[in-house]
Amino acid sequence: MKKTSISNLSRRCFLSRSTLAASALVSGAAFRLVVSARAQSARAGNPLRLPPDWTGGSLTVARANLAIWPGYSTAVSAINGGVPGPTIRVRRGQEFTARVQNSLGEPLVLHWHGVLAPERMDGHPRDQVAAGQSYQVRFPVRQRASTCWYHAHTDQLTAEQAYAGVAGFFIIEDPAEAAFGLPSGNHDVPLVFTDKRVSASRQLVYAPSMMDVMTGYLGDVMLVNGTPDAWLSVDRGLYRLRLLNGSNARIYKVALSDGRPFHLIGTDGGLLAAPAAVTSVMLAPGQRLEILVDFSVYATGTSVLLRSLTFPGSGGMMGGPRQGTEMDLLRFYVDSPATGSATVPAVLQPFTPINPTRARRTRVFTLAMSGMVHTINGQLFNMSRTDFTVPFGDVEIWEYRNTSTEPHPMHAHAALCQVLSRSSAAALPPEDGGWKDTVLVNAGETVRVLTRFDTHPGLFVQHCHNLEHEDSGMMQNFEVLPPPTLAVQREGTSVRLSWPASEQGWVIESCAEPAGVVWEPMTQPSAPVGGYWVVNITEPTGRRFYRLVKT
Ligand code: C2O
Ligand code: CU
Ligand code: CU
Repeated sequence: MKKTSISNLSRRCFLSRSTLAASALVSGAAFRLVVSARAQSARAGNPLRLPPDWTGGSLTVARANLAIWPGYSTAVSAINGGVPGPTIRVRRGQEFTARVQNSLGEPLVLHWHGVLAPERMDGHPRDQVAAGQSYQVRFPVRQRASTCWYHAHTDQLTAEQAYAGVAGFFIIEDPAEAAFGLPSGNHDVPLVFTDKRVSASRQLVYAPSMMDVMTGYLGDVMLVNGTPDAWLSVDRGLYRLRLLNGSNARIYKVALSDGRPFHLIGTDGGLLAAPAAVTSVMLAPGQRLEILVDFSVYATGTSVLLRSLTFPGSGGMMGGPRQGTEMDLLRFYVDSPATGSATVPAVLQPFTPINPTRARRTRVFTLAMSGMVHTINGQLFNMSRTDFTVPFGDVEIWEYRNTSTEPHPMHAHAALCQVLSRSSAAALPPEDGGWKDTVLVNAGETVRVLTRFDTHPGLFVQHCHNLEHEDSGMMQNFEVLPPPTLAVQREGTSVRLSWPASEQGWVIESCAEPAGVVWEPMTQPSAPVGGYWVVNITEPTGRRFYRLVKT
């Protein structure tokens, strides 16, 4: 299918539609609503699909045929029958449990991207299960509110399975975020962007050539939430859009078609300290950005597009789809007066930057091209090789040096990071703000991030989130070493905490409820006793949490 024919068609239909709406405008409100309803059903393209909320139980991944294009049946890999899969919503402090059923006919494992999961729950490719098998996932979610996602992470099949549809939203909510009164309900819209190549019979084509593996597989047909030529009817209120780049390789420069500013309020790891007014944002594969769009500036009966602007990119030099080309993402039809009363908050969640002077070491990762594939520090992924170890709780600088001609969105599991510097920019763009888990490293660029692995010990991966790059070996294993064992002995109201004297530089913090997360420092022992650091305290009975942290 040729993209041009469809977009030309929708542009033509849009022209006649807006003429209709404009004439309705002068004839009074009641008439306008009638015409508006009729116009909606006559609209070119397709109403944006919204994945249903997951209601718990199992996540079954299986081949399915969906009516993605009206009148056609398209073969996909669906989760609980949908593409994208159901939206998982977890409140901070809750346990997430799911049975993953692999009915795909090939190996599979799911990864909870951005969610800090224990090592054997994280979806490392070594934990993939065979066709027909299922496995149980169970872990508490303790991090702050953020828009995460989940997708296939199968050894050398991640790209193909994600492309076929194995992905969905994983949204973490908490009271701190709810207190900002951000747009909610149907004014809080998750949007996942994927680009596809589509055959004449409307089948998704995945047949990467060697060149496609080098650049990543780019498509020329946009699906937003699995909807081609998608549109959304909005009112003249404020909307929260959760943007997820679920594409294998395509980077988007997201903007409104009239160039109006909007507000960036969140990145991978949740809300920023304050909204930033922007006219476009770069969104690389794997990343999430949250924006507020104010439709009150648009008259009822008008429409505006969310689109990806052109930027200098490489890829698709064989005449196929290219990186950095302009693409329409989603058309908003402004159909009615505002409902809801949300406004853009002046400030959001306080953000505590990691102090770079506390960094214990800098790790350099050189991203290079070797033949037709990309390497990290000269090597390709080896499932049974651990590339490096990270002491639990240490602040580290990870420096990505991209010596290649391709952009690499680098993603590490098991921790969130903060961008420290970008060689191509004196000042970091707002997209680099806040907590991140995927950082775009452009061709020729060096990007440094501050990170600290202090949630789960164990074996994890970092990789390029260009999924063809990942599958062709642009990935590493690393092991987060366990923290010292903290022994807690309670007798009545007296509590004794101890850890080995050989472990220098650790202090104790405590809190009543990790979900609320105010960790309080405790009095520290001045000298070890009998080979241990010991803290004796009096606590009323009840639940209390303790942890060791690096000074
Ligand atoms: Cu979204 Cu290891 O990936
Ligand atoms: Cu991930
Ligand atoms: Cu890459």
